[in-house]
Amino acid sequence: MASTENKDGTGLAKRIETWVRPAIREIGAYHVADATGLIKLDAMENPYGLPDAVRRGLIEGLGDVAVNRYPDPEAAGVRKSLAELYGVHSPMDMLFGNGSDELIQILALAVGGPGRVILSVEPAFVMYRMIATFTQSEYVGVPLKSDFSIDLDATLAAIEQHQPALIFLAQPNNPTGNLFDEAALKAIVETAQGLVILDEAYTAFTDSDCLAWASQYENVLVMRTLSKVGLAGLRFGMLFGHRDWIVQLNKVRMPYNINCMTQLAIELALENYLVFSAQCQQLREARTTLFNALVSMDIGTVYPSEANFILVRLAGGLSAPRVHQRMKAAGVLIKNLHGAHPLLENCLRLTVGKPEENQRMLHALQQGVGLTD
Ligand SMILES: Cc1ncc(COP(=O)(O)O)c(C=O)c1O
Repeated sequence: MASTENKDGTGLAKRIETWVRPAIREIGAYHVADATGLIKLDAMENPYGLPDAVRRGLIEGLGDVAVNRYPDPEAAGVRKSLAELYGVHSPMDMLFGNGSDELIQILALAVGGPGRVILSVEPAFVMYRMIATFTQSEYVGVPLKSDFSIDLDATLAAIEQHQPALIFLAQPNNPTGNLFDEAALKAIVETAQGLVILDEAYTAFTDSDCLAWASQYENVLVMRTLSKVGLAGLRFGMLFGHRDWIVQLNKVRMPYNINCMTQLAIELALENYLVFSAQCQQLREARTTLFNALVSMDIGTVYPSEANFILVRLAGGLSAPRVHQRMKAAGVLIKNLHGAHPLLENCLRLTVGKPEENQRMLHALQQGVGLTD
């Protein structure tokens, strides 16, 4: 661009200031760290690659995908397999998103908006707040207790006061990894007039299962994703609930949000779902090993986790940002959460990887905290 200053004195910066809403100008973009050359344990991905059968199926099938045509807007093949996998039948239905991120956006577009409140607990998955901002909804974050359990009195009071259109609760929670007390979740669902979204992004790593709540409570929808089980790159999230809710939400969904390559890959993956389940089981076992190793390092509080990551709060004068940097220098990328929320002071989030990656991570952590050179 030749100049940012126009004849009438309005430059690009001025135009941006005039036209981009202040709430958008004020926030930072969702940050994705560059992991080039590093062991990537910052984003709760499954470290195992595609099962061989899926890989072969993809190589054989991709060439025949009709990319000149728009994809099936209903993703019928995927829908059929998922209905079988999760036992979904009428009057329950499903809505698919380009990741559950998009489902959060669809919900906020359809149910949130100016003059409406979206509520969650804090700390929680950051997109709840960001998407509330994008959709001009008011966001209310009720702090968790210091042990990361729900402060039920404060949450019910906030629900009475703000009458939220939407409540998001992740079970288990990100970034803390704990499950919330089911009695507290029920009290929230029974108090709320609006929709409660139980976000089961980490369902593969816990025995907790709230899917049935979507049929038991008319104000509950359950959200899941294939990202954490090994398909993060495909971007595919699922929302389960009564078809009357799904019909309304579906109006806001972009018609072709699940592309044809993704549909093929997911159908193949679902045919081989047992392989992914077995990988998740391995990660659960690796989580226990990692947890015990972290506890024995005696570097602070290691929080028990029902997800594929572990939250650690460093003590004894150790600084999470500094340790994070040192681990990066040692070739391991994890997530520094210090500064993200007061309850996350000096916290690091470690994604569970393959056993050898976890060993490398532990070694880098030991170096980072100065236990070894
Ligand atoms: C609780 C929770 N919900 C939703 C998501 C988004 O998942 P997806 O990859 O399906 O957009 C995440 C991702 O980290 C998450 O932690």
